[in-house]
Amino acid sequence: MDKLKMQTPDLTDKNIEQIAALFPNVITETRDENGNLKKAVDFDLLKQTLSKNLVEGDDERYRLDWPGKKASLFKANTPINKTLRPCREESVNFDATENLYIEGDNFEVLKILQESYLGKVKMIYIDPPYNTGNDFIYKDDFKKSKEEYEEELGVEDEEGGKLFRNTDSNGRFHSDWLSMMYERLVVARDLLRDDGVIFISIDDNEVHNLRKICDEVFGENNCIGNTIRVSSPSQNISKFISIMHDYCLIYAKNKEQNNGNWKVNKNNVSEFVNRVNILQKENLDEKGIENELRALVKYPRFYDFDHYSNCDENGVYQTVSMGGVSKGNLNTEIIHPITGKVVKKPQGGWRYKDEEIKKLVASKSIYYGTDESIIPRKKLYLKDYLTQIPKGVNFFDSQEDVRFLKNNNLPFDFPKPFAYIKYFLTMDTYENDIILDFFSGSATTAHAVMQLNAEDSGNRKFIMVQLPEKTDENSEAHKAGYKTISDIGKERIRRAGKKILSELESKTRQLKLGEEPVDTNKLDIGFRVYKTDSTNMKDIFYHPTELKQEQLSFLESNIKEDRTPEDLLTKVILDLGLELSLPIETKKILGNTVFIVQTNALVVCFDNDIDFKIVDTIADLKPFKVVFKDASFKDDKDRINVEERFKRLSPETKVTVI
Ligand SMILES: C[S@@+](CC[C@H](N)C(=O)[O-])C[C@H]1O[C@@H](n2cnc3c(N)ncnc32)[C@H](O)[C@@H]1O
Repeated sequence: MDKLKMQTPDLTDKNIEQIAALFPNVITETRDENGNLKKAVDFDLLKQTLSKNLVEGDDERYRLDWPGKKASLFKANTPINKTLRPCREESVNFDATENLYIEGDNFEVLKILQESYLGKVKMIYIDPPYNTGNDFIYKDDFKKSKEEYEEELGVEDEEGGKLFRNTDSNGRFHSDWLSMMYERLVVARDLLRDDGVIFISIDDNEVHNLRKICDEVFGENNCIGNTIRVSSPSQNISKFISIMHDYCLIYAKNKEQNNGNWKVNKNNVSEFVNRVNILQKENLDEKGIENELRALVKYPRFYDFDHYSNCDENGVYQTVSMGGVSKGNLNTEIIHPITGKVVKKPQGGWRYKDEEIKKLVASKSIYYGTDESIIPRKKLYLKDYLTQIPKGVNFFDSQEDVRFLKNNNLPFDFPKPFAYIKYFLTMDTYENDIILDFFSGSATTAHAVMQLNAEDSGNRKFIMVQLPEKTDENSEAHKAGYKTISDIGKERIRRAGKKILSELESKTRQLKLGEEPVDTNKLDIGFRVYKTDSTNMKDIFYHPTELKQEQLSFLESNIKEDRTPEDLLTKVILDLGLELSLPIETKKILGNTVFIVQTNALVVCFDNDIDFKIVDTIADLKPFKVVFKDASFKDDKDRINVEERFKRLSPETKVTVI
């Protein structure tokens, strides 16, 4: 029976495999510290192979370097032995929800999610510390002892982690921030789908450096843009320039693979689209249309609604001149549809080429006068207004968010506007996409995901990651009972979820003519809470791949006493590369507790005294994978019997032990 490995994948091994696939000649063998043979890259040969392109030695070259860069790349590729433990008490709808809230250092969490979410995340939004000279950042250096850290850094979080205030008197002020970001981005990139996108908020302090490392991690060609958010009115208090904006760097994992409909800018328009649809269905007269359009005034993009006073079978439209140029096209002749005569041309000629005019005529997009003596105009449909590509400069402030947080007694400084994140979500996320935010703060991203799902009946799922960073004892948050930032984030999701659901329910009760009823049960406002912790095993003196048969009995009893079957189940789910959001059913079968993950993807039982008759019941489910605890078997004979029985009853099932 196979043993599950109890740690995150070794990315160095994977990278070596990839190089081997490209250049098998450069793969050699070497001995590791225990004298065992392992694969390695012969760098001299690799250099030789790439000699035309490789920059060697200390020659000048174009790249961003800083002390610690190599170490952070090494760290990004090294496995860790941490795990996640579920926390039902803090979760909402644990069994049914597909959203996740993970508490812990995001680097560790990203590593832990490596197999389960490899290539599965459609969008990442992050809002990391901007390195303003006063931010806490997280430093991890496994070469140093815990004591050395405490001495050096002064602050310790709940997990004995290394939060420190990065001030500009730190000689490695930029380097530490860059290493912190670089190793996280390297690991995060692997989680993105091939058509995935990452959005990173940043300000002037590090935008230039961040852009360089993103160019390196994602590839310069995959840069979609650097957008500007105008966030607050200028206050006229700075000595030089009043900063009223920050940025968002947007990168695709692979631009070529991204076929999203970026043109559809659905920001704030789903309700609007509904109303326009109703207009058309109701066949209103001109006055009726005008009244309806006036109701749309709250959508600032349509401030010029007065002009949209026409409607045909293609929708509501305004008309614009087809001339207005000095040396336009004077050749194309347009025939008036009623009189059959050639219509008058604008003085300077048509502003459109012959081809374009023919297309406009064919698509009935020309508005004719009563006869040929009136120059026709082009119809501009409102619906085409809704399909614009996103702009490089946006205006979003956080007032609404600050109000929401304040009204709900959720003190959090500087949340991002949830409308802003929702705007990003509308650019390129769809029905069932997974959205990850690993600097989630007050969980604005989760709020935006739930809100957008409520608006367009989507089923996007979120993964929030947040360090349980302690709130300052003198802060409002602490006084309000929030010991950590993650406590604020979780509470915000609970309250925002309730608010969004109740708004959706009341909207459903007051449906207007032509509006589709919404299935409010579909809206997922729950989330499963997981927290990072040390491995479930008592001691790790071994590398899982080096386990010998005679060591197994020692390990069997080596699961930490405080670990519950659900803790073990979580680790198994992660090790098998299954998603943490899969539905889990807990069943009692012949007195044993059995977890059934997604019908038959995985069945586990971690009881000590298994009644072996349950094997038959489990085999009936024809599961893909079954996992038991090694200690559940009295001896090898029992283990072999179970394996044999599965082979007979459900030969496709893979049986494993931990
Ligand atoms: C600028 S805030 C994000 C604010 C968020 N966008 C919002 O609207 O509320 C950055 C957050 O990242 C968290 N953070 C910093 N380092 C982290 C780490 N290593 N792992 C997880 N979270 C971290 C901080 O605690 C902080 O709450």
